[in-house]
Amino acid sequence: MDKFVINGPCKIKGKIQVSGSKNASLPILASTLLFDEPVELRNIPNVRDIQVMINLLRSLNKKIIISKNKKKITIYNSKKINTFAPYSLVKTMRASILVLGGLISKHRKAICGYPGGCAIGERPINYHLDALKKLGMKYVVKKGYIHATAKNGLKGNNIRFKKISVGATENLIIAACLANGTVIIRNIGIEPEIKDLCWFLCSAGANIKWIGKRAVKIIGVKKLNSTSYSVMGDRIEAATWCVLAVLTAGKLKINGFNNVKLLKTELDALQKIGASIKYKENQIEIQGKKKLKKINLTTKEYEGFATDNAPMFGVLLCKANGRSTITETIFENRFMWVAEARRLGARIAIKSNKAIIEGNAKFQGTDLMSSDLRASVGLVLAAISSSGRSVVHRVYMLDRGMERFEHKLRSVGVDVKRVS
Ligand code: UD1
Repeated sequence: MDKFVINGPCKIKGKIQVSGSKNASLPILASTLLFDEPVELRNIPNVRDIQVMINLLRSLNKKIIISKNKKKITIYNSKKINTFAPYSLVKTMRASILVLGGLISKHRKAICGYPGGCAIGERPINYHLDALKKLGMKYVVKKGYIHATAKNGLKGNNIRFKKISVGATENLIIAACLANGTVIIRNIGIEPEIKDLCWFLCSAGANIKWIGKRAVKIIGVKKLNSTSYSVMGDRIEAATWCVLAVLTAGKLKINGFNNVKLLKTELDALQKIGASIKYKENQIEIQGKKKLKKINLTTKEYEGFATDNAPMFGVLLCKANGRSTITETIFENRFMWVAEARRLGARIAIKSNKAIIEGNAKFQGTDLMSSDLRASVGLVLAAISSSGRSVVHRVYMLDRGMERFEHKLRSVGVDVKRVS
């Protein structure tokens, strides 16, 4: 298993390019099951989770051509679509469940592996299934598979999610595009990645209108047309580079993330902690100050502070002056990085869903174990700010979502080597 060997502390300076958003690319790729005509997608990141989605779509008989420089993906129909999504693929990536909406809506049947829990929480899919049922999907769960049918296709209905879910919102929006009639969905996620999915679907002729801050009206259309679309930049990656600059009192120019408004909560927090930030056209320029201030953060659905950014900010707050807290409201086990960070010298107590972080920590490099993608990124940042040699193990977690991560790190001054 690959690991990163990092010699810290590192002085960080330079320019960095943010890749396309993994979390926007996954539902967009899944939604291509709605199409008969070809779809061209650009700015899809070349990361493990995307490869899993591509393999899954291929196993469903979509033909996928990836351009030589990997910057363009074209998705065609070749043979008759297969509607069986095997557990062997679903188990490696939970977002595989996003194929259910497209399969049931366009192809009226699906057998899909039922995803289990994962390192950061139980992550059930009840909201996906309950809402699809309201559109007319019938299903049973047998031997770990969802057997679903919608003999006469999906039909319009009004749905209100009990709780906001990013994935369930996406699955429903995908399913509703070809439904008979009008689907109104309330209490939905408004994450930028969900909006990107909607822009993509609308570029192909879907009829999706926002009818309130957390409500959408989708009038089913007969078919979607061929389209070409460039996926948004990755806001979690952009925030990661911002944290890196502040953590190391370094300076970074971050390109490829044009819409800085989407990072407002995180950038405001960084300014309070100790960053000076300038915006130029298509660029965030961020410089960390020597003295960092404490802050209390609470993760929330967008437009709140993103749970995916919590581990990186947690590591940063270990270096602030005073006691900070991070309260987690989305997932049960978001603090898997804490026990590893303690091994570097972090002083963090966990009380229920709150991490109480004592500042002014001096990290000494050591061996660190990745538990999930964002924890792994947080630990790499921690290692960069530690004195001496650290080894971050199981970086395949990180490969799920960060494109060319160690290359980008090296280009701004990190002494990092991948060891297989
Ligand atoms: C997505 C993101 C993930 C991010 C998360 C929250 C992708 C591929 N992943 O995950 O990076 O951390 O949003 O911003 O985009 N829940 C239920 N029942 C359901 C669905 C969700 O109880 O049917 C619960 C979950 O267990 C969790 C909360 O709702 O506690 C939010 O989960 P959700 O927004 O669905 O996260 P994902 O879409 O899985």
